[in-house]
Amino acid sequence: MNKAPGTAGFMAMKGDGYYSKATIGAKHVMDKAANLVLEAIARMDPADDGSIFRATDMGAADGGTSVDLWRRVFADVRTRVPSRPIEMIYTDLPRNDFAQVFRMIHGQTDTKSYYPEIDDLYVFASGTSFHQNIFPAQTLDLGFSATASHYISSTPCNITDHVHMVGATGAERDAFTRQGAIDWETMLLQRTRELKPGGRLCLFNFGIDEEGRYLGDTGGVSMFDTFNRFWNELADDGVISRDEYLKTNFPQHYRTVEEFTAPLNDDNSPVYKAGLRLEHVETRVVRCPFEQDFTENHKDATRFATEYLPTLRSWSEATFLGGLDADRDQAEREAIMDEFYGRYQACVADAPEGHAMDYVHAYLICRKEA
Ligand SMILES: C[S@@+](CC[C@H](N)C(=O)[O-])C[C@H]1O[C@@H](n2cnc3c(N)ncnc32)[C@H](O)[C@@H]1O
Repeated sequence: MNKAPGTAGFMAMKGDGYYSKATIGAKHVMDKAANLVLEAIARMDPADDGSIFRATDMGAADGGTSVDLWRRVFADVRTRVPSRPIEMIYTDLPRNDFAQVFRMIHGQTDTKSYYPEIDDLYVFASGTSFHQNIFPAQTLDLGFSATASHYISSTPCNITDHVHMVGATGAERDAFTRQGAIDWETMLLQRTRELKPGGRLCLFNFGIDEEGRYLGDTGGVSMFDTFNRFWNELADDGVISRDEYLKTNFPQHYRTVEEFTAPLNDDNSPVYKAGLRLEHVETRVVRCPFEQDFTENHKDATRFATEYLPTLRSWSEATFLGGLDADRDQAEREAIMDEFYGRYQACVADAPEGHAMDYVHAYLICRKEA
């Protein structure tokens, strides 16, 4: 099996604020579950001892989708521990648009920043992967990540007949499952090392729920099958080569609840031995806002397709671009992307029923043993 280059070498959400503008559903996921973070902080009951309170948002993209969650969290922390400076570190991969994070924080975008509302708050960024050490040991009070841990450090093999592991079978599916387990354990171990005793880790993860549902596959038209259909069609039509089709694989693994909790429930696992304990786990489905607006309000299929496709493009484009031959020039690459998403958009406009990117998450709250 081919070993593809690492995810950190090419992965990024679409920049310049496109991601958070187009991906309002990811914001809904965080806003609806912010109480899980607030409750974790209440249980943590941080001492008002003047030391730095350090929080991080790992895989934050441009920071726009989590801004209102952090507004509530930092208002709460500020009240609980008035003597403690708050340090906030946004982390993502090196190709992330970190400038957009700081433009948002400092009021240079149309997103309302929490920064002017919180006294004694210091905002930083790190371009180090959450599969590596990001912070010195025992310096982190609150670790948070939403909709990011499904990215694995590299794809373990090409998927013969699909672009995502949800469509992989046999040895190829097993290879993704193995890589998913390795990266999950590594990520939990790194965070356990970094958390202070009593610190909390709050993870809102894409995954496969108890009914077998996952992102864009909750009973209607499967989003990943549709991606695969049109990417395959571009290969059939000679727009891309068969080799480019084969080399296009989302560097993602959608874990089940059992996979998420295995290292936290087994007292022989390195994660458990390092002191990380599961406080809470649940799955939820958050409805696609574009499909909901179409179905319940405007009922205009062309409008739905026009509004819906950017949310898919905001996070998936890097993977499709990553499958293209390196010697294609920029204009060619852009034309292929426009053709690909254009075909998907025309299909939705033509027959909108069943298309939806419903979000399926497993929410985990963990405590580092005191
Ligand atoms: C779908 S976006 C989620 C952004 C935001 N957290 C949200 O929920 O809207 C996933 C983010 O995770 C980042 N990511 C993927 N793998 C990562 C890694 N190993 N370390 C840090 N960030 C990573 C991607 O670059 C991307 O910005």
